[in-house]
Amino acid sequence: MWCIRLNLRPRPIAKDVYWIGVNDDIKELFESLWPLPFGISYNAYVVIGNDAIALIDAVDERFAYDYIGRVREVVGDFNKIYYIVVNHLEPDHHGATPYILEAMPKAKLITSQMGSRILSSIYRVSSNRILAVKDGDKIELGGKTLRFIYTPWLHWPETMVTYLEEDEILFSCDAFGSYGSLQKGIFDDELDMDFYIDEARRYFSNIVIKYARNVLEAFEKLKNIEIKILAPSHGPIYRSNSNRIIELYKKWSQPIPEKDRVLLIYGSMYGRGELIIEHIIERLSQEGLKITSHNVSTSHPSYILSDLVESYIVVFIYPSYDAGIFPYMEDIMRLFQLKQAGRGRYAATINVYAWASTAKQATELLTKAGFKIIEPIVETKAMPNEEELKKMETLINNIIKTIK
Ligand code: FEO
Repeated sequence: MWCIRLNLRPRPIAKDVYWIGVNDDIKELFESLWPLPFGISYNAYVVIGNDAIALIDAVDERFAYDYIGRVREVVGDFNKIYYIVVNHLEPDHHGATPYILEAMPKAKLITSQMGSRILSSIYRVSSNRILAVKDGDKIELGGKTLRFIYTPWLHWPETMVTYLEEDEILFSCDAFGSYGSLQKGIFDDELDMDFYIDEARRYFSNIVIKYARNVLEAFEKLKNIEIKILAPSHGPIYRSNSNRIIELYKKWSQPIPEKDRVLLIYGSMYGRGELIIEHIIERLSQEGLKITSHNVSTSHPSYILSDLVESYIVVFIYPSYDAGIFPYMEDIMRLFQLKQAGRGRYAATINVYAWASTAKQATELLTKAGFKIIEPIVETKAMPNEEELKKMETLINNIIKTIK
């Protein structure tokens, strides 16, 4: 049972380290793009040293006072809060920061150097409240050491992660995050992880996929770091099995996804294309391939992107519309181009039309999205003739050959 805006109390995640995040069950679309049927959490943390206290990240502006109240609950006196670590400037994490700075007069924002340059343009923070750190810099809080590691493009160019050395906690911000608010607990061993892993893949595909290469670079950089607790800024904190999400992130970021998965994306105005779709599904299933399909008119792009992550071949079957590509299909192709989501994948296309082929435009878009195109590119009338049927069979055979 999911409740509206039920928030958990602050909780310790290690000695003198607390989760002080909030659930957002009000927002319907993350970044005004991606559906949040089960909400999202903005995780933030407090690290209490003998000499100083640091806050790790903040929350969306609408939760500023919830956050300040949570900090008060954990630390009482704001005068020992010297640092607020800004791993990533996006407003879901730092919209509340100007209010927090006002409430905590001694606190300085710690950011990467690039972060320090763009911070004031987003939040109008005066430069004397900003402390820029270099890659690898450390700050001692007294028995707690924070190390800052640049991880550019996860998910903006200024992004870094923070490592708490004594407790081996990695505060990874967007990386390893998941949609879905935290209603029944905050740790992976308290939650239905099949649900959150699905939502982590959707989050990865919506937010991070364009920067898959940077994810692999970040892994290289972090490979010698022991991670006891993986604490992202959205979704579960991994204290029992961080390996599961780490291995999945590596897999999702690889340039070559698993070969036996086919994603079929289709649009059909009057149902004529559906006969072709059924035939393709039947033929590919006979080869033992795993097929996921989406109707572009009814599936949200967020979920199509999510299923793309593990697919090696994408088959596009779509009608022409007003001498252009069927609009929802064009939207998804342009989104793939924006996200460079075709990298490492193949595309097969079947354009079903009555009087205007749009195969050329589609091929161009998909090539720009990074897909390699499987020949032949099929253009067929709504009632295919013999030659067109033959071409379709050749395409199906070539899809099978590409996979095998
Ligand atoms: Fe969770 Fe890139 O913001």
